Amino acid sequence: MNTCYKTEEKIDNPDSRYYSKVRVPWGDVNCPYPHRSFWYGTYKEMFEKPHHEVENERFETFKDSDVYANFVGTLPIITVCKPASLRKLKKCSTKPLFNMLNAVIQSTLEYFETSRWRKCKYKVKEKLSGENDIFEYSVDEVVDLAFQLVNRLWNIADFEDPIDVTMLFYDFAFEATFRTLLLMDYEVINDPEKKLTGKIQRVFRTGDKITKNLIFHSHFSRIARRFGHQMDHEELMSFRNDVYKLIRTNWLEDETSFYLLNSIRDAMKGTDYSDDSETTKREHLLDDMTNLCVYFLLFGSHKVSTLASMVCYLLAKHEDVQEYLRGRIQDAVEFDNGCLKYRSLDSIKDLETIIKETLRLYPPVSRIDRKADARIRVAGDRLEIPKDAFMSIPVCGIHRNSDVYIDPAGFDPSRFYRDSLSKYEFLPFGLGVRKCAGEAFGLMLTKILIIYIVGNFKIDLYPLNNEMPPKFRPSYQGLLQIEELPLYFSPLKDSPFKMREITMGS
Ligand code: HEM
Repeated sequence: MNTCYKTEEKIDNPDSRYYSKVRVPWGDVNCPYPHRSFWYGTYKEMFEKPHHEVENERFETFKDSDVYANFVGTLPIITVCKPASLRKLKKCSTKPLFNMLNAVIQSTLEYFETSRWRKCKYKVKEKLSGENDIFEYSVDEVVDLAFQLVNRLWNIADFEDPIDVTMLFYDFAFEATFRTLLLMDYEVINDPEKKLTGKIQRVFRTGDKITKNLIFHSHFSRIARRFGHQMDHEELMSFRNDVYKLIRTNWLEDETSFYLLNSIRDAMKGTDYSDDSETTKREHLLDDMTNLCVYFLLFGSHKVSTLASMVCYLLAKHEDVQEYLRGRIQDAVEFDNGCLKYRSLDSIKDLETIIKETLRLYPPVSRIDRKADARIRVAGDRLEIPKDAFMSIPVCGIHRNSDVYIDPAGFDPSRFYRDSLSKYEFLPFGLGVRKCAGEAFGLMLTKILIIYIVGNFKIDLYPLNNEMPPKFRPSYQGLLQIEELPLYFSPLKDSPFKMREITMGS
């Protein structure tokens, strides 16, 4: 592969990257943990049930004790869940690195643990926020793609068969990110063969295998690394290579030819590659940019697709909310003379609360991880978490905490008008210095997608009045993974958008 993995800066002692030798004095403190089996630790259940369901049950059982433990094999992971203890994790800047057995994902995740990422993160985040004109420009691109998606859905919606839109939404988010980053078309939505995203989805489907391998690694990490055991996917390798080449070619051809990426490059320019010659320095910068873009395209799109799919599911389940939202969309679009303007995205306040309530019930990242940078005292100073210990935050459990939320399992977007929640009680985008860098961008994509879908289709459950919850797969890196989500999409006769004439003719 045409990349320079070897150039990664040394993160820390390589042995402590994949497992922690830290011994927590469980016996001395009141820190409970679920039943622990000899081989799997407390992880056996994670292969049988989706991760977030197991996390929710554990949270309900142990939340009173503030911290509780999990074991990946013999590796202890301390779960921290109360606001006072979570506050201490805000400045924690490292995450545990497991061997993903996949060079592309590994390389990307390793990049986020370097000081190079830490130094440019806030500038990159600013570039991806609504505070600049790049963002406003990308709204036009994204709206154009939303037109295409609706058109495609019109062609396949036949009133009788349900559609699982998760994959279509993934294509949309992927192509939107691609166009915004590289200012280029990469036919995804209209590619019936799904040459690219189909393959990438298969990579996600192997997530449970990777989770199993984490157990393997907690027992045999040295051996596995010694023998270079890998689970690489050629498709993913060649995809990374494509991204790398695109960035490099654009760079060589014209300094200004790519837009968002151009400004991300500027944000990264201050990166310290002090020991290198100018040529190697540029190779390193290219490699860092590739890692970042691969994450945006693969993981960013995955999270947007999960979020938008779950919004559709909840709107199908709550028809009254769907009707009400459609009315608000209609008002906003009519105000804009049948188009969609950037400012309208934020003017539909109810859309915002619906998305927040979806993020609360089904956070696309159901658990986040940290590695202690220093000793941390938690649980009212009762427990000291040693340096280098692995920690986790059960986002989904916290979001369904019955001490904080009235009717925690119920769908009630208006709670976000009513209740004031702290950043430790509602944290779908994470916490502190490692918080999501693409929050504003992800929300912009989701809002446009939902506005166009709800403005053009009536969404119903399949089968109608179905009471069964959606199906999820055992997850990968705490990512919520939808197994199957069939819904009915019936085209509306009186769409508020002037879009049929525009799109049907083409
Ligand atoms: C809208 C759905 C999204 C959700 C719910 C979400 C959520 C998250 C969460 C929970 C984290 C981990 C934060 C932590 O550990 O504290 C994260 C990390 C990250 N997200 Fe997102 N994300 C979304 C979309 C995106 C998009 C669209 C992008 C980029 C295009 C993006 C870029 C990133 C990056 C770069 C990180 C790593 C930050 C770091 O490790 O320092 N995310 N996201």
